[in-house]
Amino acid sequence: MSHAPRIDDARLQRLFAEESDRFARAHPRAAQLATRAGGSLVGGVPMSWMQRWASPVPPYAASARGATITDIDGHQYLDLALGDTAAMAGHAPAPLTRAIAAQLENGATTMLPSEAAIDAAEELTRRFGLPLWQLCLTATDANRFVLRIARAVTKRPKVLVHNWCYHGTVDETFAIAAPGGSAGAAQTRPGNTGPQVDPSVTTRVVEINDLVATEAALAAGDVAAILIEPALTNIGIVLPDPGYHAALRTLATKYGALLIADETHTISLGPGGATAAWSLQPDLLVIGKAIAGGLPGAAYGMRRELAEQIAAELKRDEIDTGGIGGTVSGSVLSAVAIRTTLREVLTDDAFPQMIATASRWADGAEEVFTRRSVGWSVTRLGARAEYHFTPEAPRSGGEAAAAVHHEMERYLHLHALNRGIIMTPFHNMALFSPATPSSAADQHSEALDAAVATLIEGGALVV
Ligand SMILES: Cc1ncc(COP(=O)(O)O)c(C=O)c1O
Repeated sequence: MSHAPRIDDARLQRLFAEESDRFARAHPRAAQLATRAGGSLVGGVPMSWMQRWASPVPPYAASARGATITDIDGHQYLDLALGDTAAMAGHAPAPLTRAIAAQLENGATTMLPSEAAIDAAEELTRRFGLPLWQLCLTATDANRFVLRIARAVTKRPKVLVHNWCYHGTVDETFAIAAPGGSAGAAQTRPGNTGPQVDPSVTTRVVEINDLVATEAALAAGDVAAILIEPALTNIGIVLPDPGYHAALRTLATKYGALLIADETHTISLGPGGATAAWSLQPDLLVIGKAIAGGLPGAAYGMRRELAEQIAAELKRDEIDTGGIGGTVSGSVLSAVAIRTTLREVLTDDAFPQMIATASRWADGAEEVFTRRSVGWSVTRLGARAEYHFTPEAPRSGGEAAAAVHHEMERYLHLHALNRGIIMTPFHNMALFSPATPSSAADQHSEALDAAVATLIEGGALVV
């Protein structure tokens, strides 16, 4: 096996500057819009994280169809980011466009339930097994709501999460392991704005795959819920060890904590996510983004006994202000988006091809690293895959965080962008939709090979 190459930061910076110039020359209209945006939008963008594109100004999308984005400067990109999973169904899939247009003609939101919501819930049950569902707008909302439910039912205060997890902007989850602390000791995550709450009070943090620490963190009997992604996907992909999930289920039951699977990204494993692919048995399940085809729509499911326990707690006259809800949550438009995306776009039949293309992408990246003697690894998670700057794939969030090299990541993203490929920002990750052609994998391998060759020739990667 090759060793991890040394990165020469000064040389990398020079190569990055060349790519920045190349981007700037090819994107005069984006530069104009960025200047104008600075006058009315904080940081020149509608949402702060959009400042993190690797290019000097972000490309501005003119249209997005299938797996292709066209920008206002007339460049076409193969989109391997797919809205960080929100557009995993592909951009503007015809059945969804038709269904949404038809629903808009008949009203977007009414405060009334709809048949579409029943259809959506039944389809979610078919895929994930849990019998009862609620609809909301984002995976963040769904996570916040299931944590409330877990606390209401267990009467316990704490939440247990994986080190370097991400579950949306959920206050308790903005925590990382506190070095040298007791089992599960948490501290606030770098960049946690505010923070709203002190996570050392609300949260215990353990590494994925560390069952000993997990048991120690549960032993005090104050954990309401274990909220996890079945595989970490937000600090690079970190896979569970064989047997990890079965043991976690046993621990959750032994110590009376509810087990919540956040399948928002792990739906890449198949139509029923990791829950179906790996036979998981969560008490509650959260899923957002992909299921509504890029429109606001998310869901959470639960075991029947939990629904009964919650019903026993709720007072009918206070149900609208109990901290679970949102005026347009569960709207018919959202329900139609979920029903149509699941029944007609991200279907059972769509996944084998998506997974095959992801696998070809991963093979291609591995071949590049082997041919160029670069000791970097590739991790696969069904229809998504990711490379890490380490010879072995990380086994914990802490290991994955230690392997992050922001400047190298930015260079590779910008190099790819300049060759017509959009990678998922903040990661070296690629995601595949039903609309992504299998040639996408080879297109990426060629561009990656060119990038790595340039890095080696330019002395930025010393192999
Ligand atoms: C696993 C996971 N859960 C929840 C969320 C939150 O999704 P949203 O930002 O759509 O609320 C994310 C976002 O990246 C996520 O990766």
